[in-house]
Amino acid sequence: MADIHGPDDASAAQTKAARYSELLERLTGLLEGESDWLANLANAAAAIYEWLPGLNWAGFYLLRDGELVVGPFQGRPACVRIAIGAGVCGAAVAQRASQVVPDVHAFPGHIACDPRSRSEIVVPIVDGRGAVTAVLDLDSDEVATFDEEDRAGLEAAADLLTRVIDWGRACRS
Ligand code: SME
Repeated sequence: MADIHGPDDASAAQTKAARYSELLERLTGLLEGESDWLANLANAAAAIYEWLPGLNWAGFYLLRDGELVVGPFQGRPACVRIAIGAGVCGAAVAQRASQVVPDVHAFPGHIACDPRSRSEIVVPIVDGRGAVTAVLDLDSDEVATFDEEDRAGLEAAADLLTRVIDWGRACRS
């Protein structure tokens, strides 16, 4: 792990695909060789928050005892517990599918942890047996920040996290 921060800045003209490609490289460099789930999720949240533009929150909710509990994140303090099926995060678990929400005010049941949030993307993290163990949640204070390229990029990041995080430990309460 020669440089845990990577370059200070990214070209404003950088495409989303290039930005996510570099995000994956950064996450790989940060996480590989480290087995501590808490350290890895904390660094992953920080890397995502720092590297992707336009975010006001980025982090994880862990599935513990049948509900989502907030995990490592960057941004303002957030709701601690979310029921399966509730809000955008709970919908991602219930449907086992990423949720791309261009306008949170138009999403029935959206949970407004931070009233500044206007758009959101939530990607489920699925373990090797096909069970959802957590979600990766990103918020933005602008509408329509996230699109299909973000979904693809974040699902690739979630695949990486599936492999390198000890989810059995992370989800133990
Ligand atoms: N808005 C989310 C709640 C979590 S926060 O965005 C950090 C939801 O509706 O599930």
